[in-house]
Amino acid sequence: DDPPLLSGRRVVVSAGPTYEDIDPVRYLGNRSSGKMGFALAAAAHAMGAEVVLVAGPVQLPTPAGVTRVDVRSAAQMRAAVLEAVGEGADLYVGAAAVADYAPTQGADHKLKKSSPTLTLELARTPDILAEVAQRAPRPRLVVGFAAETHDLAAYARGKLYAKQVDLIAANLVGGGDSAFEGEHNALHVFWPEGETEIARAPKPVVARRLLALLAERLGAAP
Ligand code: PMT
Repeated sequence: DDPPLLSGRRVVVSAGPTYEDIDPVRYLGNRSSGKMGFALAAAAHAMGAEVVLVAGPVQLPTPAGVTRVDVRSAAQMRAAVLEAVGEGADLYVGAAAVADYAPTQGADHKLKKSSPTLTLELARTPDILAEVAQRAPRPRLVVGFAAETHDLAAYARGKLYAKQVDLIAANLVGGGDSAFEGEHNALHVFWPEGETEIARAPKPVVARRLLALLAERLGAAP
């Protein structure tokens, strides 16, 4: 049994990829199974929190006791996250792999393969994490993930300050021990005045360790 470290806390977690439609049969998206975010939602509930899980398109069952909101695009994820956070949240954890760019014009008909090349115009999607961190009312603790292939610490610290979040949980992707899609993960967690590592373990174990750290910091927050 998990100690009720998050008893009475309201937690919002985002998980999975977003899909940005090019036409009715094609999309742009990031790799993400949703396992890390779903493990966080399940663990937060087990630790006593009231949990809203905003999920991109993934093939995973809803963790028991968790309120799930399914979305597809970054714009839909932004709306669902802001609504859930707006109802009052102590903690937001952005574990979703949000697509950074979306086609400026999604076609309502299937694009034909008539030319050898195709140029898509893309525009940046909204940065959900930065918006949650920077607008009021703000959850007391706003936590992002950083998925990096190299220079993990430098990029993670950069995101901590650029997005004005309280903590960044960084994980390596792209290599043999990639955080994407598998059952295991390892985290290097950064906050302005410190850092710690969570050793490689099954995602549910990593989720519990990260949430124990967050519960401690939530307890310390003013
Ligand atoms: O889903 P799994 O297969 O279990 O894999 C887990 C994971 C690797 C996807 C997860 O642990 C993880 O790292 N999630 C963040 C992936 C990512 O896209 O990171 P990023 O470095 O591009 O983004 C940094 C942070 O900003 C993230 O918290 C992200 O949710 C957030 N973001 C990014 C872009 C955007 N438009 N809006 C955002 O909120």
